[in-house]
Amino acid sequence: MAASIKIAQNPGAFGLSEQAGREARLIVTDESHHAYVAIELIKRIPGFSELPPLAPSQPPFLRGLEELERGLPAELADDLLIAFVSISETLITSILRGIPRDARVVSAVRNTVRDHCTDEARHHSYFVYVVHQHWASSTPDRREILAPLYAKLIRLFLDPNVDLCRACLLEAGLDPHDAEVVLQDYYSPERVAASVRADSFPTLKLMERVGVLDHPTARRAFVEQKLTD
Ligand SMILES: [Fe+2]
Ligand SMILES: [Fe+2]
Repeated sequence: MAASIKIAQNPGAFGLSEQAGREARLIVTDESHHAYVAIELIKRIPGFSELPPLAPSQPPFLRGLEELERGLPAELADDLLIAFVSISETLITSILRGIPRDARVVSAVRNTVRDHCTDEARHHSYFVYVVHQHWASSTPDRREILAPLYAKLIRLFLDPNVDLCRACLLEAGLDPHDAEVVLQDYYSPERVAASVRADSFPTLKLMERVGVLDHPTARRAFVEQKLTD
């Protein structure tokens, strides 16, 4: 929502048209609705199941975003935000698509995600356009920073939230040693790298189409983040 508000206020700053600025307001509305539905669902879980309420936690990717921001010149803060949202909004559709078909997930969650996914498919197309325009309108200096940033953002968004998983395993009754064994087995570096590559495939193709991967600093950053060979 913060990124879409920025786009709505000044689409030209990111190479976007006035029309795209107006459409950004619709995305703010969609995301506000998603937040409402998601929070309602979270609040109702304890009433419908024997599960305890979820402990509030900050996703690690938000902490990572703050760290990246501290390492950048202040005038690039908005570009970081737009890049972060472009990456998450193009990645998220592939992640959401599997859940409505997954019979292991309870129907209330599957139905909510299905509705969400319809909106996110629209956001995906919109942010594909944003990535194109943002990159195309960037000066060489800004591209120098954006190119490796995209690689870090993809990794940041797709890395598993191991701390949250550990908390769930402990909550389910595993002792700390067994929880660690499960985490190391399930989230082995090879397995994480393979799933990150699979989930990021459409976004990597987008980076290729836009020309990000042709930038000299990009290729190295994408290899470093284990997104390509
Ligand atoms: Fe959403
Ligand atoms: Fe979205």
